Amino acid sequence: MAEKIHLTTPLYYVNAEPHLGHTYTTVVVDTLARVHRSMGRDVFFLTGTDEHGDKIAQASQARGSDPRSYADRVSAVFRSTWDTCGISYDHFVRTTDDYHVAFVREVMQKVYDAGDIYFGEYGGRYCFGCERFYADRELVDGKCPDHKTEPEWIAEENYFFRMSRYQQALLAHLEANPDLIAPAGYRNEVLGLLREPIGDLCISRPKSRLTWGIELPFDDRYVCYVWFDALINYVSALRHARPDDWQEYWAGAHHFIAKDILKPHSVFWPTILMAAGLPVYRGLHVHGYWNMGESKMSKSLGNVIRPLEMRERFGMDGFRYFLLREMAFGSDSSFTEDAFNTRFNADLSNGVGNLVSRVLAMQHKYFGGAVQPVTEDTRRVADDTLEAAFVEAETRAVAALEKAAFHVALEEIWKAVAACDKYIVEMAPFKIWKDEAERPRVGAILHVLCDALRHLARLLAPFMPETSAKIAALLRAEPGRLADPALPWGASFAPGHLVEPPEPLFPRIEVPR
Ligand code: MSP
Repeated sequence: MAEKIHLTTPLYYVNAEPHLGHTYTTVVVDTLARVHRSMGRDVFFLTGTDEHGDKIAQASQARGSDPRSYADRVSAVFRSTWDTCGISYDHFVRTTDDYHVAFVREVMQKVYDAGDIYFGEYGGRYCFGCERFYADRELVDGKCPDHKTEPEWIAEENYFFRMSRYQQALLAHLEANPDLIAPAGYRNEVLGLLREPIGDLCISRPKSRLTWGIELPFDDRYVCYVWFDALINYVSALRHARPDDWQEYWAGAHHFIAKDILKPHSVFWPTILMAAGLPVYRGLHVHGYWNMGESKMSKSLGNVIRPLEMRERFGMDGFRYFLLREMAFGSDSSFTEDAFNTRFNADLSNGVGNLVSRVLAMQHKYFGGAVQPVTEDTRRVADDTLEAAFVEAETRAVAALEKAAFHVALEEIWKAVAACDKYIVEMAPFKIWKDEAERPRVGAILHVLCDALRHLARLLAPFMPETSAKIAALLRAEPGRLADPALPWGASFAPGHLVEPPEPLFPRIEVPR
């Protein structure tokens, strides 16, 4: 039976429309979902929207709307954006979905019955942007480090989750599972958090202040804290969509987030799971921020890049390539138009795009588009060297993906592209063509190169699915053959197989001087 795996993005707040930051995490998970599917695993890829809480209530009010119709509209924008971008999610969850609301209430009741929720008073500094209380030591100059605003002092009676009861169990779990949180810097950050008392978590908001939330099953004067509600989606949606075998997927659950929401995912969520009697997820994978200049890209700072606009201007794959190639997963990156144009022109137009065009152009110029045989007589050592470069690229790319090092995986694949360019220069088919006796060798060289393009299409598929499909279409490769890693080189195409004439894959971006 195929191994089951559950991959998640954060549930995005509906107070902003999708920008490059959301797109990055979503593209990362989409890429991995495609990798796992290609390895025969049974993937459940979950994304969706986070719709309750102060933030959304305030945003809808500011627009003169009610929270529900406002959330309906923005959630639909997220969903259609991911559809247009070709994101291969299996399920889109909304925290306003009935099944989710019902399951959150079920979990709350269970935790309450077990004695892990109590009533008490609390005063603290609250950041509405983050929807959480801040300890004084977490503030920078008295301000929220993310939103650069002063949190408001709030004191009220509320319900609390006995998170502190699970602190030792969480620490022990982290120590027993060194790969639970990656990269290691973030694991260390969490270990640091656990060196201090984590306290209990305020999990309710009085309706006198906020009504836009899930009502507590044991006190109708209160609604649930948005984070307690939202985190539970990772299980509620899975149970809903895969009722028979959700536990098997849950055993292979991997969450992908940026560092802004590390604490809720590394401290709140595992302790909630423990209290609810559910196993902790298998992996939490944390990336850095996309910045615009010095600041984090965010709706509140107003410095955003929109995915649909990028797709319109440069194609989705150009945008995907940049996101995955430019950021080292875990560290921060900057988005600049210059960096985008440079990568696009160097790696895509001059790199893959040019390679595909050259090979197809030669195939047409010399053989009317018909692939020639490779025989004992026409085969050379250099052909094996090129094949070895692809095998090595694939091995290294697979190893990099295991560490979520997408940029390294792409760098490795581009070494195979460079190996093709070198092969063309060294084999010089355009020169040896002049010698009639060498023409069968020219046929073999081009066959080997078509083979290389077939493998390139296969390796690129999870990262750049449209480009992969375009290369396959230009080669007129049968899908079964395209995907077969074991098919020997020189045997991909029957002699006489016709390939298409070249077509530009990535027209150069003209940069005004
Ligand atoms: N609703 C919560 C998450 C609940 S998960 C159960 C939330 N939503 S959010 O809309 O603010 O999304 C935050 C996430 O969006 C980040 O963790 C990251 O995945 C992505 N990003 C948004 N802006 C980003 C950057 N500027 N840089 C990198 N990723 C960012 O938090």
